[in-house]
Amino acid sequence: MALLCCCMLVLLGGLGSARATADPDMDYGGVPLWINRLLGEPSVMSLQGRMDPAWFRANNPQACPQQCDCPIQWPTALYCDHRGLAHVPDSLPGRTQYLFLQANNISSLSSSVLANVTDLYWLILDHNQLQSDKLEHASLQNQTRLRYLFANHNRLRSVPGGLPAGLRQLRLAHNRISSISAGAFKNLHNLSVLLLQGNRLQTIAEGELGGLGSLSLLDLSGNRFSSVPRYLPSSVQQLYLSNNSLSGLDADSFAGFLDLKYLRLSHCGLQSSGVHSGVFNSSSLVELDLSYNKLTSIPTVPTTLQYLYLEANTIQEFNVTSFCREVGPLSYSRMKILRLDGNELSYHLLPADWVFCLRVLHRIYI
Ligand SMILES: *[C@@H]1O[C@H](CO)[C@@H](O)[C@H](O)[C@H]1NC(C)=O
Ligand SMILES: *[C@@H]1O[C@H](CO)[C@@H](O)[C@H](O)[C@H]1NC(C)=O
Ligand SMILES: *[C@@H]1O[C@H](CO)[C@@H](O)[C@H](O)[C@H]1NC(C)=O
Ligand SMILES: *[C@@H]1O[C@H](CO)[C@@H](O)[C@H](O)[C@H]1NC(C)=O
Ligand SMILES: *[C@@H]1O[C@H](CO)[C@@H](O)[C@H](O)[C@H]1NC(C)=O
Ligand SMILES: *[C@@H]1O[C@H](CO)[C@@H](O)[C@H](O)[C@H]1NC(C)=O
Ligand SMILES: *[C@@H]1O[C@H](CO)[C@@H](O)[C@H](O)[C@H]1NC(C)=O
Repeated sequence: MALLCCCMLVLLGGLGSARATADPDMDYGGVPLWINRLLGEPSVMSLQGRMDPAWFRANNPQACPQQCDCPIQWPTALYCDHRGLAHVPDSLPGRTQYLFLQANNISSLSSSVLANVTDLYWLILDHNQLQSDKLEHASLQNQTRLRYLFANHNRLRSVPGGLPAGLRQLRLAHNRISSISAGAFKNLHNLSVLLLQGNRLQTIAEGELGGLGSLSLLDLSGNRFSSVPRYLPSSVQQLYLSNNSLSGLDADSFAGFLDLKYLRLSHCGLQSSGVHSGVFNSSSLVELDLSYNKLTSIPTVPTTLQYLYLEANTIQEFNVTSFCREVGPLSYSRMKILRLDGNELSYHLLPADWVFCLRVLHRIYI
């Protein structure tokens, strides 16, 4: 049986296609971990229950720490996940590039433990007990090839400092983070994904996110913000702020972004009186999620918006001017999906001219 599984894996790996696949079993902070097989990235996330570790050990000529599984077909990947480890195993082989340590009981990361590993690409530490005061600043500094650092579901209280400059993704969702170490992001010019949802952040001070010139996805959902933080990197295209109690939105709340496309503001307690009519006046917006708030009217949105989610509010009126400043042959809304279900509206309340404005709509939920 083990042999059969192994052959199938070799076959899958051997296809060598660049098609990205996501593993449904792990959430990695809610954003899929896309695997690029063309780059030779390992395509099996956890070997637990899939393989016979004894068979691997017997057949693998390469050194492998007792606490880990080392697949023969991915010599650079080390699977030490889901086994109650209290520490990162020592004597990690120098060849290690993909290190899977998720779902253990690891609370510390010392600078010596990775000393012999110089080529680390991915370090996956989700679902452990990592604590900020047991994470030595120097431990990751020398990992110049590190691209992904995942430590979702740990016990960190601050964003660690001393992160290597080549990092592309930093996933720290569901910790206890209330502060960001000074200059933590200063050198991270290539970071494109930063997940901080499910933490305890209240504010972001000027300069704290300085240096993040390539940041594209920023998830700040489920924190303790009472207003949209100022001083967010202008490069962000996907900004998630759901599940914060926001007192309102100002005209310039999102003015600092150059190319904001996806904005999520559900479960924020927003009321129409606190939402400035010009706040969404940005032609780059593609998708806007305002579901589960307390809005009584539809806010003014740009005609270029394609997806608008307003379900579960208390909207009573539908005014075409929310979508179209004027209606004409060249002036109409590009809206494709409009969700208005769970409000106080019904079809017969829609004004007659709505179809001229929302003329490319694929679907309306009401
Ligand atoms: C690093 O390599 C040296 C020499 O092989 C060895 O003595 C030491 O124990 C290794 N350290 C770790 C943390 O694996
Ligand atoms: C995890 O480690 C702590 C000490 O750091 C220990 O008290 C606890 O029993 C460990 N839990 C498991 C499941 O091993
Ligand atoms: C990092 O690299 C420098 C220079 O190679 C070395 O002196 C230092 O000891 C290294 N630090 C760690 C924690 O390995
Ligand atoms: C950032 O990315 C660019 C382009 O891929 C690369 O040339 C550069 O070396 C990277 N910087 C670091 C610090 O890795
Ligand atoms: C926000 O909170 C609601 C209710 O607690 C939950 O169902 C939802 O998944 C949360 N959404 C996010 C993005 O955190
Ligand atoms: C929206 O922005 C455009 C130009 O960016 C400006 O001319 C217009 O007055 C703005 N509308 C509102 C309601 O703020
Ligand atoms: C729709 O909104 C516009 C501008 O706010 C207003 O002039 C108009 O009277 C409204 N129409 C209805 C039917 O409420």
